[in-house]
Amino acid sequence: MERNKVTIPDLYQMKKDGQKISMITAYDYPTAVLAEQAGVDCVLVGDSLGNVVMGLDSTVPVTMEEMLHHIRAVRRGVKNALLIGDLPFLSYQVSREQAILNAGRFLKEGGCDMVKLEGGSEMAPTVQAITQAGIPVCAHIGLTPQSVSKLGGYKVQGKDLTGAQRLVDSAKALQAAGADMIVFECIPSALAKAITSAVSMVTIGIGAGPDCDGQVLVFHDVVGFTTRKTPKMAKQYVDLFAQVRQAMTGYHEDVRSGAFPAGEHGFAMDAKVVKRLKI
Ligand code: KIV
Repeated sequence: MERNKVTIPDLYQMKKDGQKISMITAYDYPTAVLAEQAGVDCVLVGDSLGNVVMGLDSTVPVTMEEMLHHIRAVRRGVKNALLIGDLPFLSYQVSREQAILNAGRFLKEGGCDMVKLEGGSEMAPTVQAITQAGIPVCAHIGLTPQSVSKLGGYKVQGKDLTGAQRLVDSAKALQAAGADMIVFECIPSALAKAITSAVSMVTIGIGAGPDCDGQVLVFHDVVGFTTRKTPKMAKQYVDLFAQVRQAMTGYHEDVRSGAFPAGEHGFAMDAKVVKRLKI
C-alpha cells in the first residue's frame, strides 16, 4: 500500500494519538528497502555500524566519512520513512560550529531528515546551535555507547534517585534546546514512562519499557544476523546467521562437488560458432 512521507509533525501527532512509532537501524540499500516495505516509520543509520557491520568493539572509532558512506546507501532505499543519521564520536563535541557543519553534511550530502547525538544537559547548547541552524535533532540519553568507558560498561542507567533525576533534567534541557525526539537507551521502564508523559517531544526506547512513544532496535539483533548474543532489550525474530551459514555451506559444497553450476546457470552458444573458433 502507498504511504505518505513520514514527517516530524506526523510523529508528534502519533504521540498525541497514542499510536506507537517503529524505528529500526539500517546500514545499506537492501536493508533500507526492507524497512520501507515493512512500513517502519523511522530508519536510523546508527553508529552501531561500528559494532554490527565493521566488527569493532565500540562505536568510538566510527568516522563521519564511514557514516556518510552508509547513509547515502540507505537514503537510496528509504522512500517514505523518516531518515535519521547518527553523529559519530567527536563530530559534534569539539565546537558548536563543527557540530552544525557535520550535522549539515548529513542533510546535504546524506539526505537525512534528522540527526541524532548522544549526551545529556551538557549537550543542550550544541542541540540549540544545530536546531537553530534548521536541522532537526534527536537526542540520546541513558546508556550512551560513545561514553562507554566513562559509564564503566554497557549498564542500565538512572536506577538510583540521583541518576534518574539527572536523566529527567537532561530530557527537559534537551527539549528546551529544540530536540524533537529523544532516545532512551537502557533505563528503567518506570523512568521512561514518567519522562515520556512529562515531555512534548517524541520518546523512543531501546531497553526502556513499553511506555515510550516508540521503539528502536538494531536490525542485526532483530534478524539474528550477528555473532553476539541477543541483548536482553532486543527481540530476535529470525536466526538469519544460521540460515545464511547453511546457504553458504551449501554453495561451497556444490562448487567443490561440481553440483554448481548446473546447465541452467550457463549460457548457450551455437555449436557451429564453437567449431569455427581457432583455439
Ligand atoms: O547506534 C545505534 O544503533 C543507536 C540505537 C541503538 C539507538 O544509537
